[in-house]
Amino acid sequence: MIYLLDTADLNAIQHCNAFYPMSGVTTNPSIISKENTDFWHLVERIRNVIGENKMLHVQTTAQKADDIVAEARLLQKRLGGSFYIKVPIGEEGLKATMLLKKLGIPVTMTAIFTPAQALMAARAGAAFVAPYVNRLDNIIGDGVQVVSDIVKELSLHRLDTQVLAASFKNMEQVHKCALAGCHCVTVSEDIMRGLISHPMTNAAIETFERDWKAVYGNKTILDF
Ligand code: E4P
Repeated sequence: MIYLLDTADLNAIQHCNAFYPMSGVTTNPSIISKENTDFWHLVERIRNVIGENKMLHVQTTAQKADDIVAEARLLQKRLGGSFYIKVPIGEEGLKATMLLKKLGIPVTMTAIFTPAQALMAARAGAAFVAPYVNRLDNIIGDGVQVVSDIVKELSLHRLDTQVLAASFKNMEQVHKCALAGCHCVTVSEDIMRGLISHPMTNAAIETFERDWKAVYGNKTILDF
């Protein structure tokens, strides 16, 4: 399972890109709006921070298939590198996905809440499908089970589409998606940090430091 960062906050992107094995960034119109700044300046800076090789997923704001395709072409041209257009599931979105597949622009079909939607998106040629785990949990919909069912059905029908689970509010949701064989998750900076933190780890590191300092003071291995 690979990790993406679900934010347009440049400080968070810089931090996680430096310290975590993240494979890219996902955004949506709500995430972009939160930064309340010039759109192109923001997405181009994100590309500069993560480089050409990491995935950048940007969501369309258009509703009609032809307009979605036009936005995708423009975004891919300006942002270059590993670029994915996020398209919400729906008739126009499916039509756009089939057109974009022919143009070689990979689609992340988003706002997925059921395995039936995911299968249709995969058939249309989506590279990723993005089920929203926490939004399902909020309505007692069992987000992890939906992710698990999507992983199974894509494998059963031998489809190459990967599952990019989104909308997480805690580490347990992410962990259970990993156990379900989910290919990719997109998480906030807080969740990214939470995934590696453990009080026993902190205690172990404090003991290592205390024991070392008791004998060698502030010397490091490089000082010997
Ligand atoms: C990503 O594709 C989704 O847009 C995002 O993860 C939704 O997260 P939220 O439910 O926290 O808004």
